[in-house]
Amino acid sequence: MQTITETIPLPNSALRESLLHDRFGRVFSYLRIAVNERCNLRCIYCMPPEGVDFQSKKELLTTREINRIVGVASTLGISKIRFTGGEPLLHPHIVSLVGTAVKTPGIESVHLTTNGLLLRETAEALRQAGLHGINISFDTLDNTKFKTITRKEGLPVVLEGLELALMLEFPDVKVNVVAMRGFNDDEITDFVELTREHPLTVRFIELMPFDSHQIWKTGKFYQAEHLISDLTTLYPDLTPVNGSSTEHCVFQHPGYRGKIAVIPAYSRNLCSGCTRVRLTADGYIRNCLYSHREYNLREILRNDGTDREIADLFKTAMWNKLADGWEAQRRGEEHRESMTQIGG
Ligand code: GTP
Ligand code: 5AD
Ligand code: SF4
Repeated sequence: MQTITETIPLPNSALRESLLHDRFGRVFSYLRIAVNERCNLRCIYCMPPEGVDFQSKKELLTTREINRIVGVASTLGISKIRFTGGEPLLHPHIVSLVGTAVKTPGIESVHLTTNGLLLRETAEALRQAGLHGINISFDTLDNTKFKTITRKEGLPVVLEGLELALMLEFPDVKVNVVAMRGFNDDEITDFVELTREHPLTVRFIELMPFDSHQIWKTGKFYQAEHLISDLTTLYPDLTPVNGSSTEHCVFQHPGYRGKIAVIPAYSRNLCSGCTRVRLTADGYIRNCLYSHREYNLREILRNDGTDREIADLFKTAMWNKLADGWEAQRRGEEHRESMTQIGG
């Protein structure tokens, strides 16, 4: 792995502090854990049809290792956990991972981001385990287009999963839609209309340059600013409301039960309020989605490292976070092939 910059050592004051914070005054309370790299879809903006160079099982963190990290992270002020992947529902112990995180003192909510294909089978157990939120990703409501974008069948199954999640009344249900010009820009109203009857948030996400095909260079990029202006033209009565920290603009239509949000994942005007820490499936801490610098937690875990050493690596990683995702990207070349290796 390329070394980008020297590590800035933690000052004693930061080492003594229990919270995770950085040199810019940001405090980190949200840990995103990728539990695997594999996926049962092959979205064209994510990976090639044959997949990427997935790592072997022994290189990925075990369930015990993940549970231990959640425990240590909770002592550092982490209160929100999100399990991602790859596709987290392919993990054989995902329900137990959720249950353990839910029961960890200090963890206030546990969430999961999924493509929804396996939700019908797992939703009930996840609800019982105490999962608070589910973000389900699908970029179209049309079966043929679903096949084009994911290279697989399955939209009806995903929609059944969504329906079940709503029926089970998870406190927080969201739909993630990567917005692409010439692909789903004609479906904006169809997605917004999902919020009429259902208490869910539909989020339109900017396409990010994390794929070997560089689809974002093909004219499909749909900027958050344009998305917002198109949304407000289509729905002049939209009212701004509050949402999560990635949701830069959140709206509600009067009389509709759900919300609509835009995530400027590429434009990155959300970095100053960033609260996120990432853990890759192979056990590296990443202090920014766009950072190329990673911190090897797996090595500590597999060499009888102490909880204190784990905590100190989290603190060092976050202390070294750069001002924003643009600065992080400027410092080096991405060495991961796909978003599926970073966890979104
Ligand atoms: P909430 O906690 O519900 O807000 O979810 P989330 O947006 O944090 O999580 P999710 O896994 O649903 O992520 C949706 C998309 O948001 C990701 O695929 C990214 O496109 C974008 N995103 C999430 N975190 C970051 C981040 O730190 N930086 C940038 N630029 N985009 C992010
Ligand atoms: N750009 C934007 N979003 C992406 N996702 C995966 N790859 C990209 C990309 N290149 C999204 C998925 C899902 C979330 C975890 O990440 O669609 O909503
Ligand atoms: Fe799988 Fe998500 Fe990548 Fe699609 S974007 S192939 S659902 S990991």
